[in-house]
Amino acid sequence: MTKYKILEILRNCKGEFISGEFLSEKLQVSRTAIWKGINSLKEKGYKIEGINNKGYRLFDDTGDTISEYEIKKNLIGKELGKHICCFETIDSTNSYAKKEIDRLQHGDIIIADEQLKGRGRMDKVFYSPKESGIYMTIVLKENIFPDSIKLLSVGIANAICHAIEQEAEIVPNLTWNDIRAGRKKVCGILTEYSLELETGKTEYLIIGIGINVNNTEFPKELKDKVTSLRIFSGKEINRKNLIISVLNEIEKITADKKYISQRKNILSEYMKRINLLDKKVEIKIMDKKIIGTVTGINDRGGLIIIKANGKKEIIYNGELKGAEN
Ligand code: BTN
Repeated sequence: MTKYKILEILRNCKGEFISGEFLSEKLQVSRTAIWKGINSLKEKGYKIEGINNKGYRLFDDTGDTISEYEIKKNLIGKELGKHICCFETIDSTNSYAKKEIDRLQHGDIIIADEQLKGRGRMDKVFYSPKESGIYMTIVLKENIFPDSIKLLSVGIANAICHAIEQEAEIVPNLTWNDIRAGRKKVCGILTEYSLELETGKTEYLIIGIGINVNNTEFPKELKDKVTSLRIFSGKEINRKNLIISVLNEIEKITADKKYISQRKNILSEYMKRINLLDKKVEIKIMDKKIIGTVTGINDRGGLIIIKANGKKEIIYNGELKGAEN
């Protein structure tokens, strides 16, 4: 697309003016096409200055423009992000992926600047205000045995922690399902999948990731439980760079199902981050409540819990309470 070719030329000129005539000759398009391209880039938030008889210059390239172009060109992997759909507003990126699953392909990414009906686990709402957070869904269309799904989600949680460490320079920790900064949640993951009855394998997985990035405040009912990377680190975070890091880190474990061979490392990193060993926890699974002490994790990512009566339970899903480590 012409506009991104213009952008790259302006970038290479490092803040110097470049004439419309030069751009049009270089790209072999009309001056009107250059003018339209420049306007479209400005609308997307690029800081371009235009002066008569001088031309155009990109005077600030530190913007946080989330677009397929910016993200794709920085991805290092081969599976994730062949197609990236970016929306300004959507109901929910996970709901969109589910609706469109037949035409979506393995590795497709859906990103929105705002969600009107952001969904969390257990039918909760995920607060998704405009231009503050990352609301992103990764579509995996491959056959995975249900046994490996928890392991995959554990690997993904670790990968997001790596990306947060790189971009926000903080060390996040994990509760069973959430990523936290200090004692408050900064990221939630909602994994949804469909199983094929005959084979018992997945047809697709939809991995929804919500990160509170640059929020400066939260509604009253949330502010004791959640925070943002900006509040915790004290600095504004570039969401585009964080998205790129998250995808690159996730690719390291999803490409060629590497999480299977990296099982041992994934589980031991996860256990360190959740810090639940020997802690007493309460886990709610639908109407059932399990109370016990965590003694480890099995090789599928299930928590091993010993109850007061000495009986062992392996837990893969549910809402965990009482782990305020
Ligand atoms: C949770 O904390 O309970 C999970 C939250 C998951 C939120 C993400 S944001 C992108 C994707 N779309 C949704 O509607 N939910 C997930």
